[in-house]
Amino acid sequence: MKPPTPFISLPSLLLLFNTVRAIDLDIDSYLSIKTAAAQVASDLAAEFWDPTSFSGVPNAQYAWWQHGAILGAYVDYWAMTGDDTYNENVTIGWLKGVSPSLDLLPIEHAFDIGNDDQGFWSIMSMDAVERVFPETKEQKDMGAGFLEVTQTVHNTQALRWDYTTCGGGLRWQIVTVKDGYKYKNTISNGLYFQQSARLAKYTGNQTYADAAEEAYKWMRSVNIIQDDFWINDGALVPDCKAITPKRWTYNYGTIMAGCAAMYNFTQGEERVYWKEQLDNVINSTIATFIDVETGALKEIQCQETDTCDMDQRSFKAYLARWMGYTVQVAPYTYQTLVPHLRKNAALAAATCIGEPRGTACGQKWNLGPKWDGKHGLGEQINAMEVIQNIAPFVAPEVGGVFNNKNGGTSKSNPGGKGKKMRNWRQILAELYAPYALRSYEIGTGDKVGAAIVTLVSFAALAGMVVFVVSPDEVEEEGKSKPDTGGERAS
Ligand SMILES: *[C@@H]1O[C@H](CO)[C@@H](O)[C@H](O)[C@H]1NC(C)=O
Ligand SMILES: *[C@@H]1O[C@H](CO)[C@@H](O)[C@H](O)[C@H]1NC(C)=O
Ligand SMILES: *[C@@H]1O[C@H](CO)[C@@H](O)[C@H](O)[C@H]1NC(C)=O
Ligand SMILES: *[C@@H]1O[C@H](CO)[C@@H](O)[C@H](O)[C@H]1NC(C)=O
Repeated sequence: MKPPTPFISLPSLLLLFNTVRAIDLDIDSYLSIKTAAAQVASDLAAEFWDPTSFSGVPNAQYAWWQHGAILGAYVDYWAMTGDDTYNENVTIGWLKGVSPSLDLLPIEHAFDIGNDDQGFWSIMSMDAVERVFPETKEQKDMGAGFLEVTQTVHNTQALRWDYTTCGGGLRWQIVTVKDGYKYKNTISNGLYFQQSARLAKYTGNQTYADAAEEAYKWMRSVNIIQDDFWINDGALVPDCKAITPKRWTYNYGTIMAGCAAMYNFTQGEERVYWKEQLDNVINSTIATFIDVETGALKEIQCQETDTCDMDQRSFKAYLARWMGYTVQVAPYTYQTLVPHLRKNAALAAATCIGEPRGTACGQKWNLGPKWDGKHGLGEQINAMEVIQNIAPFVAPEVGGVFNNKNGGTSKSNPGGKGKKMRNWRQILAELYAPYALRSYEIGTGDKVGAAIVTLVSFAALAGMVVFVVSPDEVEEEGKSKPDTGGERAS
């Protein structure tokens, strides 16, 4: 059969084609929000998430912490939409990150993990606790329930709280020979603060609230959070006087959510204090990151100049997530925050017309319904978080934040310490022992050359072990590598 003569011109056909493939979002319709979130979630999963792979994310480009961020996004996705398509992969990814040490410092990544990387995983875990994400029997049997692991991370980070410099604070890196060990960055401390505050809210245990308060007041005292609520990137030891003044959306977001949880947990005078902090952080966030002309959230440090790295390209996701959380636990902020979230959900969705499938989302939400050519994990997770986080405001029955008295079920283990598998002297010895022992047994003349080479490398290894292991049991060592967008000591 002869095809009918087209009655629309090619350009309008293309337009139609584009319209069909773009993500249409009606921010007043729960069904539309779910459909849009499902599309963005499916594009993120298809290209940027393999929970069975080494890092969970495409390896060389993206970092292990972003797998924790992705799992958090899919926990919320399930809570906000009721769609459990990805739950199994969340569990698979979780078990891979958590085991076998049960403290979110898996051996494969241990040389690269800073307090912020561990913190991103643990804040995902806290999210799963408060959203009552289903736990599997296998997970529970191995001691990898979401609450017990969050508590373990809290305990290990509390031990790392460092009074020897700056009067307190967590260092960025855990490994003593890395540059970042000299830097106390905001995201590490901000995640610890938020996690402690949420543990307090969920469990009712004052110890966590005390830790949160100490972390927050320390950040205020060293001007990481300035009196005018400019929130810096971090500060250098020994006195934290050398501050890196860069401002990132996720730092503001993590402090905001922590203040909101503390506002929720406290009463009376204390609540007045936390409300004042929260109001100031919210005002500062809006003044700093909302583009006046368009209302779009902007990563001001790098977005305009196209210099955001792969970490930074995803930061808006976490601000959006934590703005949503803030409104849920401090509902009085609804009028201030929700209009910005809704606006940005619409703006973000309008950029989702990019290649390769016609639904890829862009980085610059201030451009209108255009795709800026950016396509990556960051752009996808940004759009996903901002879109799904408006769901509870049209469908109040979804995405609740629970505690252990009104529906939370995850098992508590406040004394959790993990399996202390980070005894590197032992790990390296076990890893290299067979090789070393075999080498030492080489005695004959013609093998001397090989033996010497082996002895030299073993000596170097032994030297490294001695060099890198710090006196107390906790700390480790390794090669230098920047992680989550915090500034390096310079
Ligand atoms: C779960 O992950 C596997 C491995 O990457 C993938 O093949 C599968 O499609 C994923 N499932 C979903 C629903 O995305
Ligand atoms: C925050 O901004 C609002 C609106 O401009 C203002 O009314 C309020 O007083 C501000 N809050 C604080 C704590 O500065
Ligand atoms: C505390 O958070 C819960 C949600 O977890 C919310 O229902 C409640 O209204 C909040 N309390 C206050 C004082 O805002
Ligand atoms: C509260 O948390 C602290 C710190 O983890 C723990 O030592 C204590 O046992 C907890 N108390 C209760 C009642 O769970």
